[in-house]
Amino acid sequence: MGEGKKNIMNSIEVLLNEMWKDYISYTPSAEKISKLFGEQVTNDHIAFRTLNLDQCNIFKQADYLKEFGYKVSGDYHFEQKKLNAIHLENTEERLPKIFLSELILEDFSHELKNCFVNLLSKVELNAKDLFIGGRSWELDYDLYTKLAKESEYASWLYVWGFCPNHFTVSINHLTKFHDITDVNAMVKANGFTLNSSGGEIKGTKEELLEQSSIMADKIKVRFGSINETVPSCYYEFAKRYSDSSGKIFQGFVTTSADKIFESTNK
Ligand code: NI
Repeated sequence: MGEGKKNIMNSIEVLLNEMWKDYISYTPSAEKISKLFGEQVTNDHIAFRTLNLDQCNIFKQADYLKEFGYKVSGDYHFEQKKLNAIHLENTEERLPKIFLSELILEDFSHELKNCFVNLLSKVELNAKDLFIGGRSWELDYDLYTKLAKESEYASWLYVWGFCPNHFTVSINHLTKFHDITDVNAMVKANGFTLNSSGGEIKGTKEELLEQSSIMADKIKVRFGSINETVPSCYYEFAKRYSDSSGKIFQGFVTTSADKIFESTNK
């Protein structure tokens, strides 16, 4: 490996580690479950949520990740949730894919759109802030519930801002578990609740991707003068299969991802 490449690898490891530290600070279940595997966990992907505004959209995020050897490798549309998404893969195969989704603001009410335009107009974001910058605005619980009525995704973003939404265990890389059913059973036996929207396992072997996830942790958050407990983030598990050419599928299945998004529902 050349010196330049080694430097990029070191800096991406540092960045991924910062993302993990940030994520487990509001998703304690993820750290607990990662330890239950009893071995070093390899991540299949890390997912982020954002808005389709100039200063923070998925392509702005992708530009930053390009410096680390990532390139856009797939794009997706979620009709019902009104989201666009892309996924990026790294030239270094063992590094996690990155899944970036954005809310299509013009498909929502003026009130919702203006709320985010106003919040973001007061924020100075550097490229890295789009991944671990969090939220810099004060929260209002009435506004939160109003946003949630239109879009759970919007209300989540309002509370948590820019941060990893989930990390995903690559079951393919585990040595003690090979089956998503066994992973799910272990997770449940340890007292965690799986997202059962559309069944515990999303996707099939034929679709080349099986996924499951726990329901998001619930965290006490300050809204002005009151505290309320709201969903934070969740941990996901993925098992990938080879296509007819023998190549392991690296993309995402929108019907499955659509249900996984609901892991942050109340
Ligand atoms: Ni995911």
